[in-house]
Amino acid sequence: MNYRHAFHAGNHADVLKHLVLSRIFALLSRKEAPFAYLDSHAGVGLYDLAGDQASRTGEWLQGIARIWQAEAHPALLDDYLGVIRQLNPDGTLRYYPGSPELARQLTREQDRLQLNEKHPEDGALLKDNMAGDRRVAVHRGEGWHVPRALMPTQEKRVVLLIDPPFEQADELSRCVTAMKEALGRMR
Ligand SMILES: C[S@@+](CC[C@H](N)C(=O)[O-])C[C@H]1O[C@@H](n2cnc3c(N)ncnc32)[C@H](O)[C@@H]1O
Repeated sequence: MNYRHAFHAGNHADVLKHLVLSRIFALLSRKEAPFAYLDSHAGVGLYDLAGDQASRTGEWLQGIARIWQAEAHPALLDDYLGVIRQLNPDGTLRYYPGSPELARQLTREQDRLQLNEKHPEDGALLKDNMAGDRRVAVHRGEGWHVPRALMPTQEKRVVLLIDPPFEQADELSRCVTAMKEALGRMR
């Protein structure tokens, strides 16, 4: 496992994915009923853009940095930007939320998070970063097994993010298989 998401956190694709995710949380939260958030390839959860890995690629400069510097934003970005503002209270962009931290901040007391990360070091960092929130469970197994291992959930509604590194040729077809499996396990 060579891929480390810290090199890519906050790049334009990450931003797009996280914006869509933040809108999904907002729409699901219109109903009081709880939902579960499942993240099969979760990463470490929170990233330091001034850290060694993010600094080496500088990908975030063409992603979140451009939005951060813009003078005005569409209202649809409010939830997403709110999380980033909370992580950077002095206004200097340094910390960027991965999908787990975004989920943690944009879900409610009644919702539950099941996060999975297979990389040994990143799994340990994820556990540290999510510590103290009793709604969150961190698993460190095989991401492709998440649908069969964790579904069906006790909640009737689920957000399942399947976000592999896309470094191997079969990962896209494995996403389709996993999604079909997940759909088959939930009513
Ligand atoms: C694109 S990153 C995830 C980014 C994260 N979802 C986010 O939006 O912040 C992909 C992650 O999958 C992990 N990974 C790679 N192969 C895996 C596998 N077979 N099972 C679980 N995790 C895996 C990598 O270590 C990496 O952290």
